[in-house]
Amino acid sequence: MLSIDLTGKRAFIAGVADDGGFGFAIARALAQAGASICVGTWPPAMNIFTNLLERGKMAESMRLPDGGTLAFERIYPLDAAFDTLEDAPADIRENKRYKERGDFSIRGVTALFQKDFGERPLDIVVHSLANGPEVKNALLDTSRRGYLDAVSVSAYSNVSLVRHLAPLMRPNGCFLSLTYMAGERVIPGYGGGMSSAKAALESDTRVLAFEAGRRFGVRVNTISAGPLASRAASAIGLIQRMIEYTKANAPLTRDFEAGDVGHAAAFLASPLAAGITGSVVHVDNGYHAMGMGVEGPGTVGAG
Ligand SMILES: NC(=O)c1ccc[n+]([C@@H]2O[C@H](COP(=O)([O-])OP(=O)(O)OC[C@H]3O[C@@H](n4cnc5c(N)ncnc54)[C@H](O)[C@@H]3O)[C@@H](O)[C@H]2O)c1
Repeated sequence: MLSIDLTGKRAFIAGVADDGGFGFAIARALAQAGASICVGTWPPAMNIFTNLLERGKMAESMRLPDGGTLAFERIYPLDAAFDTLEDAPADIRENKRYKERGDFSIRGVTALFQKDFGERPLDIVVHSLANGPEVKNALLDTSRRGYLDAVSVSAYSNVSLVRHLAPLMRPNGCFLSLTYMAGERVIPGYGGGMSSAKAALESDTRVLAFEAGRRFGVRVNTISAGPLASRAASAIGLIQRMIEYTKANAPLTRDFEAGDVGHAAAFLASPLAAGITGSVVHVDNGYHAMGMGVEGPGTVGAG
């Protein structure tokens, strides 16, 4: 039988701090397929996350369908805004939520992987993080600082992850990231330069697929996911409206679930997707294909 088997593979998922987002759903799916899972957690969210785990508050969502349990091999502190510790300003380095965390930069996490597991310990790297400090501002009202921060944390961080971690990948390694349709079409309310960051992430996926494919033999893809009420998305403010609108207008009316993205990620990370790189794969009940809403006067719908 053709199946997704990631036994013996190690994944690093950057951007997991609770059980409500895509990173966690991807961790579950990759673990279910047999991979071991390391995560990168934003230092300010690390205490809450480890407390949730230690107190068993996530026990239910850690349970896998086959009876097994999701376990994290490592939880590394990671602030993807910084390539090196020296790049972090003194007030961040001295902040109490960062101070005891060691080197939380992308170079720092790269060094930890090599220290803990050797020179080439990785097969799958997932970038599942984003931050736009001015996301509630229209692009027109976004400051230069806010725009550059959004692109730095949400898009450049993926370039940096590929640059640092591609040399650590075993043969047939795979990079994945999460994008949103706002990089291709106008989503009113998705502001602060986050739409620009997603457009950059998608373009970079193609260029990195070429460059890192030739240099390291790795694949680079991004999943364009439907709306989900994760912690990050809830900060945007209009997530419920986005979910309802998409459900009302997408080709498929089934509930869209984080697990849909987890399963697509497991496929893309597997040898079954050996020929897929440089792609934006939409996992959104087909909503991206629509050019007009179903609802409203005069609309010719399918039923
Ligand atoms: N939720 C949606 O509707 C939706 C739709 C399409 C794409 N996405 C994308 O999915 C990815 C995951 O987001 P999510 O919605 O699952 O939410 P989430 O809250 O589960 O994940 C976002 C994570 O990013 C982390 N983070 C923020 N700034 C960081 C930094 N500087 N360094 C390291 N980590 C940092 C947060 O701590 C959090 O764990 C993001 O790229 C997001 O844009 C989300």
